[in-house]
Amino acid sequence: MPVKSVLAKDSFIVGQDGRIAVGPLFVMEKRPAGFSQVASDWHYAMVMPDGVIRQNAALQKFCNTCHRRAGAGNDHLMFLPLPYRLAKGAR
Ligand code: HEC
Repeated sequence: MPVKSVLAKDSFIVGQDGRIAVGPLFVMEKRPAGFSQVASDWHYAMVMPDGVIRQNAALQKFCNTCHRRAGAGNDHLMFLPLPYRLAKGAR
């Protein structure tokens, strides 16, 4: 993905009582080359339902633990549909 790309994924939470509530908004932003080699230059954040933004070092590690498993060939992305990617062969 090009630098400055921002991906956002909404979420919801289902409580044990079956009630549904708004969950965090998951955000990935592509930073300039060299920002984070281990995270393929992605910066991770969560916008909580109350508006608080979480983006500390522990969160970077938490998010990257999973996303890096998607591999460098997928730019650490999971299910982003191919037409939205610049990867070779996606168009
Ligand atoms: C337990 C593994 C896991 C962790 C930890 C994780 N993700 Fe994901 N993420 C996934 C999977 C699997 C998908 C694709 C399925 C989906 O969209 O729900 C995904 C999809 C996404 C997407 C949509 C783009 C894509 O790659 O498909 C964003 C944005 C995202 N995650 C952000 C985050 C952020 C921010 C964090 C940390 C707060 C995080 N993720 C932590 C597994 C994880």
